[in-house]
Amino acid sequence: MISQSPALSAVPPGPGDQFEIGDTDDSLERMARYYAEYGDFYRVHAPRRGTDTYVISDPEAIRRVLVTNHRNYTKGVGINRVKVLLGNGIMVSEGELWHRQRRMMQPSFHRRHMVNFFANIENCNRALLAEWQARAARGETVNLTEDVSRMTLDIVLRALFSDDLEVLANRVGGNPFTVLADESARDLRFAARFRALAHPIGELIKQRRERAPLRRDLLAMLMQARDKNSGLPMPDKSLIDEVMTLIVAGHETTASGLNWLWYLLSGHPEVTRRLHAELDALEGEPTPQQILELPYLGQVIDEALRLYPPGWLITRRAIADDELGGYPVPAGTDVFISPYLVHRNPRCWERPEQFDPDRFRDAAVKERNRFAYLPFVAGPRHCIGEAFALTEMRIHVARAALRFDLQLAGDQAIEMEARVNLRTRQPLIMRPLPR
Ligand code: HEM
Repeated sequence: MISQSPALSAVPPGPGDQFEIGDTDDSLERMARYYAEYGDFYRVHAPRRGTDTYVISDPEAIRRVLVTNHRNYTKGVGINRVKVLLGNGIMVSEGELWHRQRRMMQPSFHRRHMVNFFANIENCNRALLAEWQARAARGETVNLTEDVSRMTLDIVLRALFSDDLEVLANRVGGNPFTVLADESARDLRFAARFRALAHPIGELIKQRRERAPLRRDLLAMLMQARDKNSGLPMPDKSLIDEVMTLIVAGHETTASGLNWLWYLLSGHPEVTRRLHAELDALEGEPTPQQILELPYLGQVIDEALRLYPPGWLITRRAIADDELGGYPVPAGTDVFISPYLVHRNPRCWERPEQFDPDRFRDAAVKERNRFAYLPFVAGPRHCIGEAFALTEMRIHVARAALRFDLQLAGDQAIEMEARVNLRTRQPLIMRPLPR
């Protein structure tokens, strides 16, 4: 007699609750509660969508969804939250369109091109640190959340448009992108204001095509990219969607990551001391290249992204039936992966709640399952901007930590806010103490 595995006829355990993950402000807290109760596979029902959602936190099942059987999964419902902003850019698109666009964009984000962005990253940091210096001299605090958000926006805009940012600003009477840093709501009103920016971007593209100025920025690279099969450039509509995608995907995530990192450092003086020691051991003003090679700095950033991954929810939907961890996954099931939960999976991480950059020493990383750490996801749809983000974060943290010890002012209670990104609900008000 052939006996059927009991797990294969079962569904993952779950609370039996109706729960549209991502729709409510307490989604992450609730997911964490269920995770503590049910473990690496659990199931909730989403009544509005009429589907089951499996939340998976087991690295091997995650490997299957993201890599070995990735063709069986589309991006899922999470993407609806950003579709209205990003049109058909690569964050959203699927199939042949996604594949073609990704292939054309990929080379611009290669590690070896990061050197093109050093000067602009350095300039944006210089401006920010001069502001902090002036405030420190007056004994004032800084709104770190706002400042870092403005800086990461500026960095991605300069990377895309270089000096043409001024051309765009002149055309519409001021930097049209500040709406991104100034407004935190990501509702339909915001989407309408943001999509209106497609027009000036389209005009800039036309102007560049007519005058063919010499530029080495991202927009120039995207305009020069050719599809390897057809030899054709991207149509303007795609160019605009990709530019908008890079602005949104590249700015808020990096800002959230840095915001959490400064929060963690301010509460861990021993880690700060080791970071300062590594920086102070360099002779004179370090070059960006030297900064990128600092091991402890890299570990601190990796560890901050572990505890508070800005992309806290990855959604996928099964196209055909599959099986994960012994559970059948019927076609149409939503499969959600929360890097926040996976990064605190006690089977993969000792003392997961503790901020400990040493867990990112080379030897420790080699021993761990690669799919236990997913700040930039993995597989074909992994973050295209990973090298860009890490370059930007390392240079910023090094330059700021060389000059200041940043301490949280007063006894602010800081809570998490898990919306499109994982942010702090309250802005971090910090005191920059010159070193
Ligand atoms: C700390 C900073 C960042 C984090 C944590 C982050 C995280 C992520 C995650 C989790 C995804 C996958 C989303 C999904 O599969 O549903 C993603 C995709 C993406 N990211 Fe990032 N990101 C960061 C910075 C950036 C930057 C700087 C850029 C560009 C300048 C960028 C551009 C993109 C794009 C275009 C995609 C879509 C890729 C595709 O589907 O082919 N990201 N990112």
